[in-house]
Amino acid sequence: MKATLIIENIDSLITIRGENKARAGLEQRENGLINNGIIAVKDDKIIYVGEGSLPDNIEVGENTIILNGEGKTVTPGLIDSHTHLVHGGSREHELSMKLKGKDYLEILAAGGGIHSTAKATSNASFDELYKKAEKSLNTMLSFGVTTVEAKSGYGIGDFDTELKQIEVANKLNQNKQVDIVSTFMGAHAVPEKYKNNSDLFVDKLINEMIPYIAEKKLAKFNDVFCEEGVFTVEQSRKILKAGKAHGLIPKVHADEIVSLGGAELAAEVECISAEHLIGASDQGIKAMAQKGVIAVLLPGTSFNLQKGTVARARKMIEENVPVAISTDYNPGSCPSENIQLMMTLASLSLKLVPEEVIVGVTINAAAALGLENQIGSLEVGKKADIAIFDVPNLDYMIYHFGINHTDKVIKNGQLVYEKNQ
Ligand code: NIG
Ligand code: FE
Repeated sequence: MKATLIIENIDSLITIRGENKARAGLEQRENGLINNGIIAVKDDKIIYVGEGSLPDNIEVGENTIILNGEGKTVTPGLIDSHTHLVHGGSREHELSMKLKGKDYLEILAAGGGIHSTAKATSNASFDELYKKAEKSLNTMLSFGVTTVEAKSGYGIGDFDTELKQIEVANKLNQNKQVDIVSTFMGAHAVPEKYKNNSDLFVDKLINEMIPYIAEKKLAKFNDVFCEEGVFTVEQSRKILKAGKAHGLIPKVHADEIVSLGGAELAAEVECISAEHLIGASDQGIKAMAQKGVIAVLLPGTSFNLQKGTVARARKMIEENVPVAISTDYNPGSCPSENIQLMMTLASLSLKLVPEEVIVGVTINAAAALGLENQIGSLEVGKKADIAIFDVPNLDYMIYHFGINHTDKVIKNGQLVYEKNQ
């Protein structure tokens, strides 16, 4: 078999090999490290992963691209499993409000926050939204990301805006190298006009929006912001169950700011993942473990919210909840596309060891998107989505923070990003 691309002499080849499923507990540390590694690709698939040199049955031809992995760390393409990629405008004015002590939920309740992004998103044309999201996507790719989840949610009752966001994400998915998986998040905030009767809006979501999204196959997942002053646990349950009945896989923004029982709800509804979980209770964590719900933790958000609280990642790992790490890239609670920064925060603020962190942005993130059989590890037959970092080992990558370590990115077997020398 003739290889189309080879990376040889790799100092640290982090394969994440093993079962194609989310890793929990001690298994979350298993990252399949090979020193002096070599990997071969044919077209868009991996055909060999090992140590030293290639076996005889793999040929190198004139056109085979050969990359040198000396001094480098190679990982599966990173997966950002929770983002609000497509939106209009920005919210830098909230920085000084926050410094003066204004709370995120206070700003939201006063009609700012998510509502101000909803206005900007509604006012933006399709092309404006496309260009802005494309720029962010390019930034994500430059950090080593090859698959991104993108939520809608800035329509806030305006279904056309919601559809515009999803269509932008789906068009980017067609046109760009990075894969995008869409999530419908019609339940992101209660529209002004339903303020005193949010159940009516929930009915609209259930009876009109969710069936339409499912029927037109516009999204894979259905997400709700289950939070004090936003959607209650009961309302969230209804919305997630309705989505499930229509074939949309449930995800939930749970216990982000106030501890409401979102983790328990995620287990009850059998969400694929529960996200944030800063205030998740002991019972909620246990229930998630029992149902195999993945915890998608967003340490950039807790850092940016500046409340002095973070998700209890160690407790989750102790209780056998698989943990994924993501940016939550959005204009309010986490305006950063930098997954490498999130990896450092996962380590320093959530106290995960580097081996747990890398599993959190590869196979566990893939599983949070239902893609564990295609991506998230470097093994024969899997998609050739590969990131090469200019660091000798994983510890170094997480320790030397705030800069971009990416050297090259390979997507579907093609070299799609190369650092300017
Ligand atoms: O994940 N919490 C809800 N949604 C986002 C923030 C969105 C925004 O502030 O615009 C989050 O934190
Ligand atoms: Fe979010």
